[in-house]
Amino acid sequence: MQIADIQPERLPRHIAIILDGNGRWAKKNGKLRQQGHKAGADNIEVIGDAMIEYGIPFLTVYAFSTENWKRSTEEVSYLMGLMKRYLMKNKQDALRKGIRIRVIGDRSKLSDDLQVLIREMERDTKDMTRLNLTFAINYGGRDEIVRAVRRAAQDVKQGILAPEQLDEAAFSAYLDTCELPDPDLMIRTSAEQRISNFLLWQLAYSEFYFSDRLWPDFTPEDLLAAIQDYASRERRFGGRVKEAKA
Ligand code: IPE
Ligand code: IPE
Ligand code: MG
Repeated sequence: MQIADIQPERLPRHIAIILDGNGRWAKKNGKLRQQGHKAGADNIEVIGDAMIEYGIPFLTVYAFSTENWKRSTEEVSYLMGLMKRYLMKNKQDALRKGIRIRVIGDRSKLSDDLQVLIREMERDTKDMTRLNLTFAINYGGRDEIVRAVRRAAQDVKQGILAPEQLDEAAFSAYLDTCELPDPDLMIRTSAEQRISNFLLWQLAYSEFYFSDRLWPDFTPEDLLAAIQDYASRERRFGGRVKEAKA
């Protein structure tokens, strides 16, 4: 099975991944949780390269949720440091490969130096078009919606927006994902089957795919299997499936 065997119009355009299982991967391999996170971060590069190879232009990965602050300070600070190192290390690679990097989530609660690195990465890769790689950092779907409502309410208060103008399209423009299409396919690794506050608004009609693989073990072949599964599905969006012509 190869990507070329799938009809191009059946390919997803945007894949969103809940990359889960770093901790269990570490345990399984007799390593520290931190080593699991490092292996997980390295795998984002591998899967990003596969996305480019498969010609799928949008990848969004859930890196740190609004709930992940509940973890030990040791783990949280390791994850923050890992994100900093990732941003510092990968800019030349991103430019060479044509990757545009964005971050969604409430970045105001991140450290100043991480915020600066994010801003610089977004600025310096903004003309890249081969792959749009978005990291959800301090991201929660509910938090994103509340922040969007707050901004819309501000605009109403200032007379920029009339309440009647606020329809689904207008509201989407207030979300962190305003520049991204909705995900066609959402993949969660590590056999967990829940959404964990990821992209609540945007996943309204996405196809879900659950993989038993722990994230650091998730390979380009596993990604291809998910894409193949997606390609075989009939998306209805609440309508009827087109009758096959006799
Ligand atoms: C996913 O791996 C990465 C983050 C949530 C940051 P986990 O750390 O959740 O791994 P498990 O679920 O404990 O195996
Ligand atoms: C979801 O994974 C968040 C990220 C992958 C960043 P978690 O491991 O935090 O989710 P739960 O706690 O199992 O739902
Ligand atoms: Mg987990």
